[in-house]
Amino acid sequence: MCGIIGYTGTANAIPKMMKGLSVLEYRGYDSVGIAAQENSKTKIVKCKGRIGALEEKLRDQPIEGSHCAIGHTRWATHGGPSDKNAHPHRVGAVTLVHNGIIENYKDLRASLAEKGVIFQSETDTEVAAALINDCFAQSGDPVASIREASEKMKGAFAFGILFEGYPGEVFAVRRGSPLILARGKDGYYIASDMTALLPFTKEYYALKENQIVRLSPGGGRIVLSDGTKIAPQWETTTMTPESAQKGGYSHFMLKEIHEQPGAVVKSVSPRINADGLPDFSSDGIEPAFWQTVKSIQIVACGSAMHAGLVGLRLLEDLAKVPTSVSIASEFRYHPPILPEGSLVIVISQSGETADTLAALRYAKENGIPTLAIVNAVETTIAREADRRIYTFAGPEIAVATTKGYCTQASVLWMIAAAIAHTTGRIDDAQAKAITRSLLCDVPAAIEQMLTLENRYHKIARNLINHEHVFYIGRGMDYALSMEAALKLKEISYIHCEAYAAGELKHGTISLVEPGTPVLAICTEQALLEKTESNIREVRSRGAQVTLIVRDDLPTPPDPAEEVILLPTSSEAATVFAALTAIQYIAYETALLLGCDIDRPRNLAKSVTVE
Ligand code: F6R
Repeated sequence: MCGIIGYTGTANAIPKMMKGLSVLEYRGYDSVGIAAQENSKTKIVKCKGRIGALEEKLRDQPIEGSHCAIGHTRWATHGGPSDKNAHPHRVGAVTLVHNGIIENYKDLRASLAEKGVIFQSETDTEVAAALINDCFAQSGDPVASIREASEKMKGAFAFGILFEGYPGEVFAVRRGSPLILARGKDGYYIASDMTALLPFTKEYYALKENQIVRLSPGGGRIVLSDGTKIAPQWETTTMTPESAQKGGYSHFMLKEIHEQPGAVVKSVSPRINADGLPDFSSDGIEPAFWQTVKSIQIVACGSAMHAGLVGLRLLEDLAKVPTSVSIASEFRYHPPILPEGSLVIVISQSGETADTLAALRYAKENGIPTLAIVNAVETTIAREADRRIYTFAGPEIAVATTKGYCTQASVLWMIAAAIAHTTGRIDDAQAKAITRSLLCDVPAAIEQMLTLENRYHKIARNLINHEHVFYIGRGMDYALSMEAALKLKEISYIHCEAYAAGELKHGTISLVEPGTPVLAICTEQALLEKTESNIREVRSRGAQVTLIVRDDLPTPPDPAEEVILLPTSSEAATVFAALTAIQYIAYETALLLGCDIDRPRNLAKSVTVE
């Protein structure tokens, strides 16, 4: 959670901080602040609120001629959003910004308080600053003090640090939380992720666990835990500054919904071989591997977990591999009994979600093979999993995931096809039909759904008048309903529940009253009749029903109801079309309500706390 950035070089550091922080805002936006060296003194300007509030504060308290600075945008964990809890925090000679959580901060705080430290904030970060300062007071060596303090801290952290008396130098360290080091024409940078640095450079190095960095205008040195110094091995990102901008759309979420057809093609095509068959060799996964998989445990959070539920249907129906899905934060504390031949698949757009990472580590510790489906390259989850499949959705900036989820589902579909094919459950022709449908029918179906903006708008106009909404569906459509409800809730703040269509009558239907909006998803031909009965049940109790339904219905829908028809060129096309519709409905609803669509309240994009 939280975004951090740092710079040292020949240019003015302040505009760089502001630009980088505005990109990093998706990681948290409760408060924002910078610390910059001005005439060899460190000056801090910080406040509750977003980047605009900091800009205003800087007009009153300008920082002139600084070439070395660190910055932070916060998602509050320890201590509410306030000026005093905003980062950077300074104790003695140490000023720092932090992403992560210091789990033993209470003990550390107590022992530092005994030594006379008076804390100004409720944060664990200030404790970290005090601890490093305490170590620095003894050793007088910044790197040694960071190393010593890191050993005493439990939890996850990435720090950007300025030391009084070290002009032009930024220090950093990471454990658990992500941190990128980068080299530009006019200096060196650190940041929580590369998107923040795209306006300045493409050359980066993803810091490894416990590596300490010492940056000066002339270079960046990495210090390993044993004290050895190494030069970074620079890599070049393929991302462009445009990929992290809105490109004419009013919101990142809308842009990202529209990017889905291309993102699916990018995610699927490298996994189709010259014969048109599913093939993950380019990911280092040979067909023989799939034959060893006897059962699958999918672990993820939020929407990624919902993508896992789509995967479950496919892996069981198509590949006939027993599969279950766990919420990552539950998995560790009640791990299922996994038989020989199990594979744990973790799914994460950001590649940094703490709960998912913990589940991955648990699986590895217990000797279970792991596979990660990740979007953000070179992230911790991608690095630590035994095998990884990237989704190639490109940077996802809106807090609510759309193209991330969509590409996760498409990759899971490819995995199910690969297993089904290598184990002989489907023949070449069937496997080719699936790859073709994912590569051609799905993007076309999404494109088609993107033209129905007016229809989504009309549905949204009704939803905004209600406090409670239901999505219902069976089978795959129940999985889609869960994602639909989450999307609507998180960006429009309207309470929405997803129900298995047949389950509603076992209690929850008592909440349905005249006018209650019920959106029914029906992508599966075989379940049409049953779902229709459930729709009748709610309709007869006065519910306002919206149908998101296959375009090959045997009987035409009631003209009184709103109907979104889904193309049926293939099974996958229908599912991805429904997905696009539910995303767009959530978007239009939040837009009408004037919500902050890309930055919903209380949320952050990358959840690096457990
Ligand atoms: C909802 C959403 C979240 C994420 C979840 C996992 O729109 O984006 O529910 O899906 O926090 O995040 P990742 O995929 O980064 O592990």
